[in-house]
Amino acid sequence: MIILNDVRKSFQNLEVLKGISLTIEDHKIYGIIGQSGAGKSTLLRCINGLEPYDSGEITVDGTLVSVRDKDALRHLQKRMGMIFQSFNLLERLDVYDNVALPMKFWGMRTNTNEAREKILGLVRLVGLEDKLHAKPRELSGGQKQRVAIARALVLDPQFLLCDEATSALDPEITKGILALLQKINQELGITIIVVTHQMEVVKQICERVAFLNQGCVLAEGRPEELFVRPEKQEIKDFLREGSEKLPETGVNIQLFFNDENNVDPVVTQMARALDTDFSICWAKLEDFRTNVYGSLVINIKESDLERVSAFLNEKKVTWEALR
Ligand SMILES: Nc1ncnc2c1ncn2[C@@H]1O[C@H](COP(=O)(O)OP(=O)(O)O)[C@@H](O)[C@H]1O
Ligand SMILES: [Mg+2]
Repeated sequence: MIILNDVRKSFQNLEVLKGISLTIEDHKIYGIIGQSGAGKSTLLRCINGLEPYDSGEITVDGTLVSVRDKDALRHLQKRMGMIFQSFNLLERLDVYDNVALPMKFWGMRTNTNEAREKILGLVRLVGLEDKLHAKPRELSGGQKQRVAIARALVLDPQFLLCDEATSALDPEITKGILALLQKINQELGITIIVVTHQMEVVKQICERVAFLNQGCVLAEGRPEELFVRPEKQEIKDFLREGSEKLPETGVNIQLFFNDENNVDPVVTQMARALDTDFSICWAKLEDFRTNVYGSLVINIKESDLERVSAFLNEKKVTWEALR
């Protein structure tokens, strides 16, 4: 388990992390999302000790992460595989040797049967067995990231840290990489921390997420709790919720629903029951891992507000009037 307690960090006089407290439980896929410059990469680098922090505490299974104890730090970093947006493969090495690199770095032999089995197993896990001796320049972006993932797993880490791992990939390739991360989490039990500015990544694979804004955690929880009905204006802005044009007359009402309370019949029932009309402004459906969540905005007459509100409350529909 990784616990951060009031972690602060400045670069010169720029405060980049302003008291971050988080708990990342074992075997989870945990997301850290926010705009560019929010401090996500810095936070990740503090977690694996690539960057010192100024105050507060970061512990991994009870052991303090500190850049002062070089030996302890090296062992911690061995337990944390890391992948990046830019893949960071060595051009002169083929797939096999790129994957083997961390073993070489640790002075392990890479030509034993055991090592070979290990490397081949990982290359197979990421689906590149037919590219074993290809050089990075012969691979697509998605394939390069697969090599980087295999390399990050070669020392049997407990954690996999991903910094914008899919940000350079197109949506279809991204889906494949996310499915691979999910498989690694489920089959190998590895805890995965995903730093991203992409909502799709969090929606597809993260069980929990922290929303980082200007060095502060503004919200933390299950993605559907944070993003289906965001409370904070910063999160709404991030999702660009406000950009949908709504009618300026009458009252705009947003209804929320999930798998269990499908709102469609409610809307038509309400029109019949109240003998009134309203227009549907927009509706959207969103997938969060296995659940579908949706919301619908309708525009009603000011004079209908009381009756509509009574009807929705009686039907136990979650709703709010938009300003
Ligand atoms: N090594 C550094 N020296 C000075 N400023 C830095 C350094 N690394 C990051 N920053 C600054 O810290 C802030 C957060 O950066 P970063 O953690 O990379 O954010 P994110 O990953 O969310 O885009 C930015 O304003 C960035 O310019
Ligand atoms: Mg970053």
